[in-house]
Amino acid sequence: MNVLVTGGAGYIGSHTVVELLNAGHEAVIVDDLSNAKADVIDRIETITGKRPAFHQIDCADGAALRRAFASCKIDAVIHFAGFKAVGESVRKPLQYYRNNLDSTMTLLEVMEEFGCKKFIFSSSATVYGPNNPHPYKEDMPAIQSSSPYGWTKVMIERILTDYVTAHPDFCAILLRYFNPIGAHESGLLGDDPNGIPNNLMPYIGRVAAGQLEKLTIFGGDYPTPDGTCQRDYLHVVDLAVGHLKALEYAADHTGAEAINLGTGHGISVLELVHAFETANQMKLPYVIGPRRDGDLPAFWADAQKAETILGWTATHSVEDMCRSSWEFARKSAEQ
Ligand code: UD1
Repeated sequence: MNVLVTGGAGYIGSHTVVELLNAGHEAVIVDDLSNAKADVIDRIETITGKRPAFHQIDCADGAALRRAFASCKIDAVIHFAGFKAVGESVRKPLQYYRNNLDSTMTLLEVMEEFGCKKFIFSSSATVYGPNNPHPYKEDMPAIQSSSPYGWTKVMIERILTDYVTAHPDFCAILLRYFNPIGAHESGLLGDDPNGIPNNLMPYIGRVAAGQLEKLTIFGGDYPTPDGTCQRDYLHVVDLAVGHLKALEYAADHTGAEAINLGTGHGISVLELVHAFETANQMKLPYVIGPRRDGDLPAFWADAQKAETILGWTATHSVEDMCRSSWEFARKSAEQ
């Protein structure tokens, strides 16, 4: 299949492009490089031996997107591109709504013009909001979120669902990710955000590399076994493979389908810190600080649906996630 991947130079996008190329598909990357580096394309080529087509464009730019679609017959789209910093979205809601919604609607319009009917969307567990009990199951009401970023995911799921109602021959798979961490085994691809990381594992990586002094664990008094928040961390390569499975499923299905991608198990921040120390044989300086606004005490996936309909389960261990994250952070710090 020829697959257009928006945000294909980003963290999850780049790992997915590698899996696509390794499985014999062609990938066309669309990325404006606003939160990714151009050398990711070279790194993908080093890993796979194939160079994906790359268009440096904003996918809200319809004319530019049409040129990308005209470059070859696109069979399916995987849509990662979007702003994703939760805290920033609270400060700049209009920017988030404008960017994330516009790009998705432009993409759908251009897909319609070119007769492309398979869409895999990068959604998030954040759509389950603060009121559902965990483990989260796809048939729970997913109509809440705690930030404008999260609301863009809820709204885009709605847009895609309505679009499918109007176009019953279209297929939209809404992949609800839990907490992706880890990096490609080559050490060439990983999560490398601009500035000081918001998410836990990139922050740990910078502390381990000596670029940040210590980790602050946000809250030690949650109603969890060790007082720190619990999340469902999954390896980014497992997540990337999940997209491939979704693509295979979409190839011969229509309709809208929400599917969780998680391991089905929660671990705490402290457990992850200790797993990182053990896997990489080092001590990580940390302190317990105040809670972060908007964090939920605990959630993880019910991962059954992905297994039943996609034949997908996560296979990497927490140790794999910690080892590969450090390998990538160490190499990145040396550059
Ligand atoms: C967040 C978003 C989620 C988004 C995901 C990836 C919310 C509620 N969720 O997930 O929608 O898809 O990021 O961008 O905003 N932690 C620390 N110290 C740190 C950083 C994090 O203790 O320096 C803790 C957090 O309190 C949390 C856990 O680590 O308990 C994971 O945090 P993070 O990696 O930011 O992911 P989420 O907040 O779960």
